Amino acid sequence: MRAEAIGIIGGTGWLGAGLARAMLDRGLITGDRLVLSNRSGSHPLAERGAQLLADNQVLVDISDIVILSVRPEQFTALNIDASGKLVISLMAGVTSQAIGAATGASTVIRAMPNAAIEIRQSFTPWHCANELAATEIQCIQRLLECVGTASRVSTEDAIDYLSALSGTGPAFAALLMTALTRQAVKAGISEDIARQAAKGVVVSASQLLARHDPQAMINSLVAYKGVTAAALQSLIDAGFEDQMGRALQAGAAVARGGM
Ligand SMILES: NC(=O)c1ccc[n+]([C@@H]2O[C@H](COP(=O)([O-])OP(=O)(O)OC[C@H]3O[C@@H](n4cnc5c(N)ncnc54)[C@H](OP(=O)(O)O)[C@@H]3O)[C@@H](O)[C@H]2O)c1
Repeated sequence: MRAEAIGIIGGTGWLGAGLARAMLDRGLITGDRLVLSNRSGSHPLAERGAQLLADNQVLVDISDIVILSVRPEQFTALNIDASGKLVISLMAGVTSQAIGAATGASTVIRAMPNAAIEIRQSFTPWHCANELAATEIQCIQRLLECVGTASRVSTEDAIDYLSALSGTGPAFAALLMTALTRQAVKAGISEDIARQAAKGVVVSASQLLARHDPQAMINSLVAYKGVTAAALQSLIDAGFEDQMGRALQAGAAVARGGM
């Protein structure tokens, strides 16, 4: 399956524009087959040849694949008829059933990327309740892989759970980085040094995990029985993993409850 035209409703937002840029850069689509819509008329991709529309129904009518990249609370105002179309929603907390009922789409895909779309390193799980042809699966994978990696998951509930895990993108890492910085400052380290040290841990050193198994890394560091082992043991004793589990369930509950 080859998409003749792709339309992105909300295609000038953070995720929508990031995906649009990546699809053009990767040659998945040419500007003349890419249509974006928004309400404001701002058009960051004008020079790339993509068409900008204010009328979402016109976008749907001329697109083979329609991507929904508006915020969840903006969805009900769209009022589109996408009967017979393949619709890919990036929205958190809006169910396939609600999307199908509101748009009449014949096939609804829920995909959950994250803010790392901006650097094309999003992990994007996706789900579709319908049977899909191999060519359709390939087409969806290729589209989502423009911004990183993608995998189909077998249940829609997994999308809601993963919204709170990978969908959060840099959020957990940002929280860790600010906590490390603030605690170091409290302990008497200058703010400038504290920031550099925390960034060294979260942004720089953690890149090693792209090449190492995390559990093996923990085991080898704990084996030194020194500074790192003491710090990690303190976190483990305080129930770090269970606390992460509760955080993920709290986020997933919001996604499952609709937004
Ligand atoms: N950002 C993330 O990290 C993240 C992660 C996972 C999933 N998501 C999901 O991705 C979706 C988009 O998020 P975002 O962060 O990209 O939001 P965003 O930057 O606010 O983008 C939303 C876009 O929708 C447009 N829009 C709003 N109402 C519209 C309408 N009626 N017709 C056409 N366009 C309309 C807005 O443009 P105008 O204001 O000009 O209309 C804007 O370009 C959300 O549903 C969110 O749940 C986001």
